[in-house]
Amino acid sequence: MKLLITGGCGFIGANFIRYLLNKYADYQIVNLDKLTYAGNLENLAGLEEESGGRYTFVRGDIRDATLIAELLGREIDVVVNFAAESHVDRSIEDASVFVRTNVEGTQVLLEAARKSGVGLYVQISTDEVYGSLGPSGAFSEKTPLDPRSPYSASKAAADLLVQAYAHTYGLPILITRCSNNYGPFQFPEKLIPLMLTNALEGLPLPVYGDGLNVRDWIYVGDHCRGVDLIIHHGKKGEVYNLGGASELTNLDLVGALLRELAIQKGHQPGYYDGLIKFVTDRLGHDRRYAMDFTKIQTELGWTPGYTLAQGMKETVAWYLQNEAWWRRIKTGEYLDYYQRMYAGR
Ligand code: NAD
Ligand code: DAU
Repeated sequence: MKLLITGGCGFIGANFIRYLLNKYADYQIVNLDKLTYAGNLENLAGLEEESGGRYTFVRGDIRDATLIAELLGREIDVVVNFAAESHVDRSIEDASVFVRTNVEGTQVLLEAARKSGVGLYVQISTDEVYGSLGPSGAFSEKTPLDPRSPYSASKAAADLLVQAYAHTYGLPILITRCSNNYGPFQFPEKLIPLMLTNALEGLPLPVYGDGLNVRDWIYVGDHCRGVDLIIHHGKKGEVYNLGGASELTNLDLVGALLRELAIQKGHQPGYYDGLIKFVTDRLGHDRRYAMDFTKIQTELGWTPGYTLAQGMKETVAWYLQNEAWWRRIKTGEYLDYYQRMYAGR
């Protein structure tokens, strides 16, 4: 099988490419990535050689119709679109690039996929398209879309375009909607790597609002395994939810993370707790997400394999072992971003 994977130099895309190359000895992958602030060639360093030429990197924009047409001319069987602007806080600061990449970029990919007659187009979407929950209940695939941030609105728009291409042109598609991922290679603007790396640097740990917003956390390897299953066995035209069955308030999550970090660094359990700082809330902050993933469980036999405790242990260990990786990121653009986002909060 030959796959065009977009956004493969980001967090989940890089984990997915590594997963596929390890699992399937004969698969070939073309990774198209623009290398925005979130794209990092280091995440896939050495793979061209290690994979014996089965992995190729192309730098480019998913909005570049000429380039996409050329790539799809390389006998691609499946397109998997991970490429996106992915951070909610950045979308609140400036929504325009979110519309350009997440909406227009998806449309360019769909149009090229339609013209080339590709076998399958897979859109990597998010639970955030469903909106926000009260204290009980969970999102199912039938929950109406109700996005509330510029990021989630752009992802929902993309999902609707994907479904429109399926309905109008008969494009074979699948959409995956997953909850909050964590694990190796996650960019330190997101909650878990931000807390970990700030704690290691002795910096304040900014918890938004009252810290009682709830997220469902899934280890990135479980997400990759689910997307792989869906590509091979999902029913064309369908949406599949994925979740980690690990719902926690942000405060409880940060507490558990800091305890694990303290253990691995040989400190007392409460060693980092004094760094926690409650800061001004995110605008329009969604209160709670929770996923009902019964459909993929019953149809494809998928469940998350990692408990939060196992996933956290591996993640903390990875960030401790890969200090050079995150320290290189936390320079330049990142420092400007951090200053803009957190100063005076
Ligand atoms: P990320 O920000 O780490 O990576 C995004 C990648 O896309 C980067 O490598 C970037 O360079 C690339 N990119 C951005 N704009 C591009 C463009 N115009 N053309 C080509 N490449 C471009 O994101 P992530 O956390 O790995 O998320 C990947 C996908 O999964 C996104 O679509 C996101 O919406 C979705 N998702 C993420 C999560 C999560 O918890 N991180 C959960 C559910 C779904
Ligand atoms: O739910 C899936 C989504 O998860 C993905 O679609 C997004 O791409 C991904 O970024 C993520 O969105 P969130 O906004 O939930 O993730 P983030 O890590 O930014 O924040 C998680 C929670 O932590 C959220 O309630 C906001 C809070 N938070 C975040 C940061 C960065 C803080 O309290 N402090 C912070 O500094």
